[in-house]
Amino acid sequence: MSAPTVVPQAERATRVPTRRHYVMCPPTHFAVQYSINPWMDPDSPVDAAKAMRQWENLKATYERLGHTVEVVDPQPGLPDMVFADNSGTVIDGRVLGAKFFAPERAAEAEHFRRWFLARGYRELVMPRYVNEAEGDFVWTGRYLLAGSGYRTVPEAHAEAQEVLGVPVVSLTLVDPRFYHLNTALFVLNRADQPHIAYYPEAFSASSLRVLERLFPDAIKVGAADADCLGLNAVSDGKHVLLPVEATALAKQIEECGYEPVFVDLSEIRKAGGAHKCCTMELHS
Ligand code: ARG
Repeated sequence: MSAPTVVPQAERATRVPTRRHYVMCPPTHFAVQYSINPWMDPDSPVDAAKAMRQWENLKATYERLGHTVEVVDPQPGLPDMVFADNSGTVIDGRVLGAKFFAPERAAEAEHFRRWFLARGYRELVMPRYVNEAEGDFVWTGRYLLAGSGYRTVPEAHAEAQEVLGVPVVSLTLVDPRFYHLNTALFVLNRADQPHIAYYPEAFSASSLRVLERLFPDAIKVGAADADCLGLNAVSDGKHVLLPVEATALAKQIEECGYEPVFVDLSEIRKAGGAHKCCTMELHS
């Protein structure tokens, strides 16, 4: 018997978007006052008004594409709260809250816990182990890819599997500039066989072998696109929101039938986060 033919993702030209449900938090109190990742330099100025305009454009772009965006109230004294994706992982009605690595961000977890409860989520667990939610947990529709190395600890991966009831695949990050999994990998398409893109240099040799096995037709992205946080992109299965600088990545995804949508988040990037970091997805 011959082996079944695998149609490479690149040959499936028609990409179909699905409606997404996002949660965002405006950068009302945005600032770079401390440094908890290599992108953050408290000595270089941040234009808060510009950060707000960029964030509003990101939100408006989601809405124009037909997605729903819910907004969480920003809190004074929490300048990184704009990075909403770090505060919860929601899959099939179950919520695993966050436990931040840095004390400067610790209080964000409680604000989001209350938001989840007010929003009607009842199956909510606050974690025992450090876990920065969708920063390090990436849902492919089949597996929860889970990063560790800088923030989320490996014990949190097992905890996520227990709480959320989905298979977790652990991956190790090795470059401090790509301290969260979602700065080095994103999901293009969750349908049937998940299609992902990643920056190989951010992963340990063993994790690369895992990625090769699970995603043989993944898009491998170069350093220039990783350096502008191009891997922090957000895809709805067709439209891919990414930084204006990520031009080679835009070509790569176009060749696979996706539509790049450039959104400039250069001011917010000064804190080490971009499109996906500003966007928590409720997987219902
Ligand atoms: N300044 C924030 C931090 O270091 C940025 C977080 C970006 N979020 C992300 N999911 N990568 O925690």
